Amino acid sequence: MRSFISYVRIIIILTIVYALSEWLIDFPTYKSVLFNPYFLGFEFLIFILLLAFESTLGVLNRIADQLITEEKKLEIEAQKKRDKENNWLKKIYRNLVGSNEAVDPSLGMETHEYDGIKEFNNPLPPWWVYLFYITIVFAIVYLGYYHVFNGANQIDEYFADKAQADIELEEYKKTAIDFVDAKTVILLTDENSLEQGKVTYNTLCVVCHGPDGGGSIGPNLTDAYWILGGDIQSVFKTIATGGRPGKGMIAWNTSLRPSEIQRVGSYILSLQGTSPENPKAPEGTLTQ
Ligand code: HEC
Repeated sequence: MRSFISYVRIIIILTIVYALSEWLIDFPTYKSVLFNPYFLGFEFLIFILLLAFESTLGVLNRIADQLITEEKKLEIEAQKKRDKENNWLKKIYRNLVGSNEAVDPSLGMETHEYDGIKEFNNPLPPWWVYLFYITIVFAIVYLGYYHVFNGANQIDEYFADKAQADIELEEYKKTAIDFVDAKTVILLTDENSLEQGKVTYNTLCVVCHGPDGGGSIGPNLTDAYWILGGDIQSVFKTIATGGRPGKGMIAWNTSLRPSEIQRVGSYILSLQGTSPENPKAPEGTLTQ
C-alpha cells in the first residue's frame, strides 16, 4: 500500500464510480449526486474497501518477495524491464516520433547533387505527416458536406435552433399563462381569448350580468360606470376576489384559473360601449 500506483488506482476507481452515478442516477432533489449524503456514504464505503484491498495486496506482495529466491527475483526484474521496453505506449510513441536514423549522412543523402551541393534527407516526423493526412481527409469531408451536399452551416443551424426555441417558448407560455395576477395582468384582445372568455361568461356570469352584459342582479358591464374599477387590473381583482361583501359577486379564484379570469375579464371589457337590450342603470363612478 505504499506505492504511488495504489493511490492512483483508488482515485481512478472513485472517479469512475462518481461519474457513473452522476450519469445513471437522477435524484430529483439534488443537483449533483455529490450533494446526496447517501451517495457520499456509498463513495466513502468504496474508498474504505479499496484501501483494505490495496493494503492486502501490498502485504501479499511483500510476503511473495520474501519467499522468492534471489535468481528468480533478478529474472523477474529483467522480465519487467523487457515489458517496459515493449510497452505499447512506448511503441506508439516511437512510431510517431520516428527514428533519427536519417541523420546518418550515408543513409540520408539524396542522390541528386547540383554544383557540389548535396541535399540532405531529413524526413518529417511521422506525427507531423499523419496530422497532414488527417487535415487532407478533413478537408475532403468538409468540402463534401458543406459545399457539395449543402449540409447545414452555422446560419442554418442558428435558424433551426431559433425555430426550436420559439416552439419551446410558446409551449412555456402556454403553461405559464396562469402566473398572471391582478398586478401583471394585461388586457387580451385576440379573438381566441375573447371567444374563450365569452364561453366562461355564458356559463358562469350570465345569470347575474345578463346575456349581453346589460346587468340584472349584477351591475351593467357595458357602460363606463364601475363600482370597483374598470381597468383590467381592477376587473381581474373583482372577478378573482369578489365584490363588496353581501352584494352577491363571489370570488371566482377558487373555480377559475388566473388565465381564465384574465380572458373573461378581457371579454367583459370588450363589451364596453355595446348597447344591451335591457341596460341596467349605471352604478358606480364614470371611469374612462
Ligand atoms: C350571483 C350573481 C353574480 C354572478 C354569478 C356574477 N356576478 Fe359579477 N357582480 C355581481 C354583483 C352583485 C356585483 C356588484 C358587486 C359590488 O357591488 O360590490 C358584481 C360585480 C362585478 C364586477 C364589477 C363591476 C363594477 O362595476 O365594478 C365585475 C367585473 C363582475 N361582476 C364580473 C363578473 C364575472 C366575470 C362573472 C362570472 C365569472 C360574474 N361577475 C358573476 C353579481 C354576480
